[in-house]
Amino acid sequence: MHLFDRKMELVSYLEGERKKNRTLGLVPTMGALHTGHLSLVKKALSENDLVVVSIFVNPTQFDKKDDLDKYPRSLERDIDLLKTVSKKIVVFAPTVDEIYGDQVKSESYEFDGLDKVMEGEFRAGHFDGVGTIVELLLRTVAPNKAYFGEKDFQQLQIIRKMAEIKKLPYTIIGCPIEREPHGLAMSSRNERLSKTTREQAGFIHDTLQTAKSKFGTESATTIADWVKSEFKKNPVFNLEYFEITDEATLTPMLKKQDNQKYRAFIAVYADGVRLIDNLRLN
Ligand code: PAF
Repeated sequence: MHLFDRKMELVSYLEGERKKNRTLGLVPTMGALHTGHLSLVKKALSENDLVVVSIFVNPTQFDKKDDLDKYPRSLERDIDLLKTVSKKIVVFAPTVDEIYGDQVKSESYEFDGLDKVMEGEFRAGHFDGVGTIVELLLRTVAPNKAYFGEKDFQQLQIIRKMAEIKKLPYTIIGCPIEREPHGLAMSSRNERLSKTTREQAGFIHDTLQTAKSKFGTESATTIADWVKSEFKKNPVFNLEYFEITDEATLTPMLKKQDNQKYRAFIAVYADGVRLIDNLRLN
């Protein structure tokens, strides 16, 4: 397996591969790889000759220093894991200095309001940080296709918007959420939960499922009130937000329109760890 920590070395290696007509997939990650990441990598391998997996904990997308410091890092284990998956994987694991030099800051993007709600409302500057690193990775790797998980559905829509605005000719592919046995959406952050909290965290997905079953007959406000009351009864999980929005614009659903797709989004704190999840409603 090839491992690069320098942009220019990766670029010249990939140029050689492209000359051999190899198609390239890109799977951007922040490491601490789990089955969810591997499902993206496997999908990318099934659709491309070579897959670049980037492993980089991007400082500019963290609004809290503590969250950045506590983010799990396990580069050697991640590399060993990827080696077991395929020889057609190239790992790009740069340092912060290699990416940002001495200017560790984001660019400012105009995402048509997609960044103003939910995660954007609660995590200042988060999506400018995501946009900055994903644009850099896309331009560096110039993949045929890039793969992102739907757990971060708002991020996925924002990356699609960024690619459109910046006229980046790379296909952005969204992949379904992978879940732990009790229903918790897979995330590197889950490692920071206690064993019991992790087992009980299926509560988040169960609540989304029940919200979905109510969607046909009850209003968005009634469903949101019900979700809030369920969380009030549960001392382990603290609800930050629950929203039902239009899937494309991410604006809150006021009145259900025919032919529109809606999704429920949730953010929750447990054991001091922030967890997000979402579910298509119709
Ligand atoms: O989803 C993530 O892990 C990150 O936001 C990403 C897309 C790798 C950018 O740092």
